Amino acid sequence: MRNESAYCMAVMVPLAAKSSIFLLLVLSITTPYLTVAATILESNTLRPNIKQTCETLKATVLTFLPSSSNYTALATKNWSGTAWSKPSCIVQPSSSSQAQEVVSVLSKGGVSFAVRSGGHMPSPLAANTDGGVLIDLSGLKSIQYDARKSEAKIGAGLKWGEVYAELERSKVTVVGGRVLDVGVGGLILGSGLSYLSDLYGLACDNVVNFEVVLAGGKLVNASARENQDLFWALKGGLNNFGLVTSFTLKTYSIYQVWGGVKLYNYTDLPKLLRAANEYQSTPTKDPYANFMLQAFPTNQSIGVVLNMVYLRPVPSPAAFAPFYNIPTTGDLTRVQTLREMMSGQGVPDIPRWDWRTTSFKPSEGVYERIEGVLAEAPEVATIAGLTGGTLALGLQPISTLLVDAGREKGGNALGLERMNQTWWVLDTGHWLEKDDEVAHEATKRLINKINDEVEEEQAEVDYLFMNDASWDQDVIASYGENNVAKLKAVRRKYDPQFVFTNLVFGGFKLG
Ligand SMILES: Cc1cc2nc3c(=O)[nH]c(=O)nc-3n(C[C@H](O)[C@H](O)[C@H](O)COP(=O)(O)OP(=O)(O)OC[C@H]3O[C@@H](n4cnc5c(N)ncnc54)[C@H](O)[C@@H]3O)c2cc1C
Ligand SMILES: *[C@@H]1O[C@H](CO)[C@@H](O)[C@H](O)[C@H]1NC(C)=O
Ligand SMILES: *[C@@H]1O[C@H](CO)[C@@H](O)[C@H](O)[C@H]1NC(C)=O
Ligand SMILES: *[C@@H]1O[C@H](CO)[C@@H](O)[C@H](O)[C@H]1NC(C)=O
Ligand SMILES: *[C@@H]1O[C@H](CO)[C@@H](O)[C@H](O)[C@H]1NC(C)=O
Ligand SMILES: *[C@@H]1O[C@H](CO)[C@@H](O)[C@H](O)[C@H]1NC(C)=O
Ligand SMILES: *[C@@H]1O[C@H](CO)[C@@H](O)[C@H](O)[C@H]1NC(C)=O
Repeated sequence: MRNESAYCMAVMVPLAAKSSIFLLLVLSITTPYLTVAATILESNTLRPNIKQTCETLKATVLTFLPSSSNYTALATKNWSGTAWSKPSCIVQPSSSSQAQEVVSVLSKGGVSFAVRSGGHMPSPLAANTDGGVLIDLSGLKSIQYDARKSEAKIGAGLKWGEVYAELERSKVTVVGGRVLDVGVGGLILGSGLSYLSDLYGLACDNVVNFEVVLAGGKLVNASARENQDLFWALKGGLNNFGLVTSFTLKTYSIYQVWGGVKLYNYTDLPKLLRAANEYQSTPTKDPYANFMLQAFPTNQSIGVVLNMVYLRPVPSPAAFAPFYNIPTTGDLTRVQTLREMMSGQGVPDIPRWDWRTTSFKPSEGVYERIEGVLAEAPEVATIAGLTGGTLALGLQPISTLLVDAGREKGGNALGLERMNQTWWVLDTGHWLEKDDEVAHEATKRLINKINDEVEEEQAEVDYLFMNDASWDQDVIASYGENNVAKLKAVRRKYDPQFVFTNLVFGGFKLG
């Protein structure tokens, strides 16, 4: 893992200073941001004393220094060891105004920082910092459900399990993550694939309002009525524009569903991929049906795991007909609440993860070729040979219904093409830090091989799904040139000193 503070001193400071100088020239004739730009320029030149900044923050917000007993648990939270690091201090704002104070101090001081919600992104330093200040949002956990408006305002430090448990009491839910331990912040700002997405679009499409702390510390709303350009940019823009303190989401009356896990013999993977293709090409896709298929080429005794859900309490609906004649080795499907169904989703207990995504148009031919790659590529054995080495494949069917639903709700920054597609992921888990690079390179080669086959079938789809992407995939570029240009214009307007680019440099960045 690269050393962020050294990187900050050597590279980021000149970079930040350079853009500030540039902006200074541009802004001196146009905007009132001039004084802030000058402050940042000056403090970067002075090289910030981060320890002093931590002491300053301690006066207003709950702050953990490396010497405090809770520091280690927070610095090494939680999903993947690849995301652990050593911040100079960790702050936990408990209100939007505290978050404003923190961002104000850090932007003015030119101090590098990171923002973390649920901590589930495995990319090194996406939500952590080596030597900077980590803003941990887990103090922002309020939920306000407004039944009249069918909206819920949720704090950015919540996990999906907490959100669903509260809303389930009113028999409603939101378009959110499929695994309960994941945080709301990263998932929504990276787009957010849900079991409800064919009905209502991605999680980001269902945001009614983002409450955002901008660089410098100003708090604004971004919605269809206020700051519409920022509203659009945050739907896929991750941490490039500000720190989101709360999301107001649409709620839906979905409660009892049919679904759960079905298990299959690994040897039936080819049949299951054919069934998936049939499901994806049936005329008039039923929006209430959704699934995620996973299999473990390195651990074939686990078999194939199919998480399926029908968003009505209708057992074995016709939408999944292509799967029904394949014999299962286990079947946990039943009528239950959506939250119960998701709580049955197992996640392998492995300490380090990397994953990598690609998208394509599904067909029997593409799936056969991918199966061939996974059966023959030596990289599978390379991963299997690592301590705890595990490779999982994931198939996520995306229909035009999802794309249309997002457009109807105002559109997002993702540049999705209106076509049925598959968002494919390879998840690689292992135990030891020394194996990170081998795991990363092997996964990358596998995805490249899959992409070669996809190209042979002329089934390419440009979009890369951020929430399944590896740190070196250029996700935002995949949104398309026009959207990238629009995003850059939004950044110039709301963050003219590039604080959320240069001081917050982890995660998927706008170039
Ligand atoms: C077990 C598991 C299951 C998953 N299931 C799904 C799924 O069903 N659907 C799906 O779409 N994805 C899924 N993902 C991927 C997941 O959405 C991403 O890993 C996401 O980044 C996690 O969000 P987080 O808040 O937990 O992560 P974090 O690591 O805390 O944050 C991720 C990124 O978002 C930024 N960020 C977070 N909150 C804010 C904020 N409030 N303001 C500004 N920036 C912020 C961080 O700076 C960081 O760069 C899953 C991941 C795991 C590990
Ligand atoms: C420290 O962690 C413990 C255990 O998670 C928690 O109960 C306690 O409230 C934390 N202390 C502070 C100051 O947050
Ligand atoms: C992460 O932490 C939460 C709560 O602190 C815990 O429930 C969960 O099991 C942890 N996940 C992992 C992968 O360690
Ligand atoms: C955002 O909108 C809400 C609801 O209209 C309002 O109460 C709040 O004051 C607004 N916040 C800001 C920062 O404008
Ligand atoms: C899976 O199929 C193979 C080949 O048909 C068979 O040898 C094996 O016992 C099966 N495993 C299970 C769990 O049914
Ligand atoms: C997408 O697939 C559905 C069937 O699920 C089909 O009816 C529709 O025509 C397809 N759309 C496009 C744009 O190919
Ligand atoms: C896969 O197999 C390896 C080696 O046998 C093991 O260490 C790892 O834990 C397994 N993965 C899972 C998810 O069971």
